Amino acid sequence: MEHKKFYITTPIYYPSAQLHIGHTYCTVATDAMARYKRLTGCDVMFLTGTDEHGQKIEDKAREAGVTPQQFVDGIVAGEHGVLDLWKLMNISNDRFIRTTDDYHEAAIQRIFKRMYDNGDIYKSKYVGKYCKPCESFWTENQLVDGKCPDCGRAVEDAEEEAYFFRASKYAGRVRDLLTGTDFLQPASRVNEMVNNFIDCEGGLQDLCVSRTSFRWGVPVDFDPKHVVYVWLDALFNYMTALGFENDRYDDLDRYWPADVHFVGKEIVRFHAIYWPAFLMSLGLPLPKHVYGHGWLNFNGEKMSKSRGNVVDPYILAGRYGVDALRFFLLRTFPFGSDGNFSNELLINTINVDLANDLGNLVSRTTAMIEKYFGGTLPKCIAPEAVDDELKAMAQSLRARYEAQMEKYQFQNALDEIFKLIARANKYIDETAPWLLAKDEAKRERLAAVMYNLLETVRICAVLLTPFMPESCEAIFARIGADANGRTWDSAAVWGALGDNTVVHKGEAIFPRIDAEAELAALAALQEAQRKAAQTPEIELEPFAEEAVDFDTFCKSDFRAVKVKACEAVKKSAKLLRFTLDDGSGTDRQILSGIHAWYEPEQLVGKTLLAIVNLPPRKMMGLESCGMLISAVHRENGEEKLHLLMLDDAIPAGAKME
Ligand code: MSP
Repeated sequence: MEHKKFYITTPIYYPSAQLHIGHTYCTVATDAMARYKRLTGCDVMFLTGTDEHGQKIEDKAREAGVTPQQFVDGIVAGEHGVLDLWKLMNISNDRFIRTTDDYHEAAIQRIFKRMYDNGDIYKSKYVGKYCKPCESFWTENQLVDGKCPDCGRAVEDAEEEAYFFRASKYAGRVRDLLTGTDFLQPASRVNEMVNNFIDCEGGLQDLCVSRTSFRWGVPVDFDPKHVVYVWLDALFNYMTALGFENDRYDDLDRYWPADVHFVGKEIVRFHAIYWPAFLMSLGLPLPKHVYGHGWLNFNGEKMSKSRGNVVDPYILAGRYGVDALRFFLLRTFPFGSDGNFSNELLINTINVDLANDLGNLVSRTTAMIEKYFGGTLPKCIAPEAVDDELKAMAQSLRARYEAQMEKYQFQNALDEIFKLIARANKYIDETAPWLLAKDEAKRERLAAVMYNLLETVRICAVLLTPFMPESCEAIFARIGADANGRTWDSAAVWGALGDNTVVHKGEAIFPRIDAEAELAALAALQEAQRKAAQTPEIELEPFAEEAVDFDTFCKSDFRAVKVKACEAVKKSAKLLRFTLDDGSGTDRQILSGIHAWYEPEQLVGKTLLAIVNLPPRKMMGLESCGMLISAVHRENGEEKLHLLMLDDAIPAGAKME
């Protein structure tokens, strides 16, 4: 038998902040596609991961006071991190790559070297503009109104020694790939790429592929003051995760080339121009397709942390269920275009499609079978003309669905299913089973009507499985569909359910949402988020009016001290007792009224600043020999305090001058 494989990827996400509904959208779409392909019998490899290097991560880690590795570990593997989110969303990825994985880093060094050795990477000098948030270099004429063409933010002058990739050499082949094949989809994205980056003034420019201005990246092993540009590092994840230039994995032959990379529209440029050019340079097969999907906005605005309008998938999945959220994302927005997320749309889609149309079809059908047949349905063939349209639609559904899924048109595929669901609900009204039930002579016909409904539900559930895996399991259990009735083949066959199928109604699978109450609750949650994102109002202590004379100031003896022990003083709400190493060889005790801001265990091991020549003072019967120095201010009217923490490299007792 022909080996049907399917290799699909999501972009690897930047763990610079917690992921939101926009990232979830892309991963859910990829998951639905992967599950669909598995259903059809393909040997699927579904890869996702995180893109962990780069200046932005290095900066964020510094701000957070941790190492870059600690920072990304928190966002990837910590609570509510990337891994948790994909688990919650029931994502069925086969592999997860982190660009900080050893095998990937070593492979990137080898790849860079290969391209250097074949002459496609060369050393030169970079002079141009740099957009820090996008980690992108631009030439003057690529800027839009002097700003970054991708994100519209300010760019900085940049000049550094750097390695370049000879992208210009591949311009013709990449243009042919884009214009002469269906490599880049939707086709509407092709012109923009060709016009803006290949057939633009100056043509396709060579790409700067190394940096010396920061350290958090894969070092170029033969010139270690350079780190590899994040995009070269990131794009090759699609191959290193299969074992390219490493022996951690061994299935490059089995899965490469990728069948499709799903990527957001703003990163199409990297995937449709540079990625094929890199592969051409190494003489490797190209991925079959890159699909550039649209963006989800929130109430018409771009989602961003600073606007406080980021939609949190945890909240929505927690309130409405993972499957409802997955379904909503793919049912509502055409995959290739931008979509506008709103709470109204979410709740309305769940209520109309899931609670009303699908939910009611399942619960009415199973309730009637329980009521009229005690839950066990005989297989009766008592056809009537009114059945024909329903049956024909159900039998041909799989083909229509497949045609849409093959084009990644999830919305259309679901639309086909929901047309059949609507038809089945109408069929209940047309056949009026409650009237048939009153006439003993029509019992066979009643059973046939019920069977037709059950079969319709079954076929819909098979095809909905990639979108709502758990809910479809629940539907199968209710309609008594065994393994044979859940397969891809069975979705094109009318009559897979056997004689005496056991059915039970159970609880509603998609409970109706009280729209008014939920909209109010979501609005309140979002308002709180917006407020939290607002820049806090800071009030400072007034500056001293009176001058201090220099000699007096110089008498103050400020020293670095290390916290050996710290505990709360009994019977005091405020005081902490510190045992400090001040470098003198004798422990120093200082009491400080900061318990409202710190727990003792947070402070052990820290290097702090103390004034050590104040006269000793007794507090709660304990002697305090000096004072720890803190920074104080008011934020939104509330008093805030931060102990001054020094670099741990400073030894105890070092004097501040
Ligand atoms: N690290 C790069 C990708 C490297 S792939 C070799 C990156 N990361 S990202 O975290 O910024 O974005 C990852 C994906 O999430 C992109 O495809 C991006 O389009 C997508 N989305 C981020 N916000 C989005 C929305 N609001 N809506 C839809 N997708 C969005 O780029």
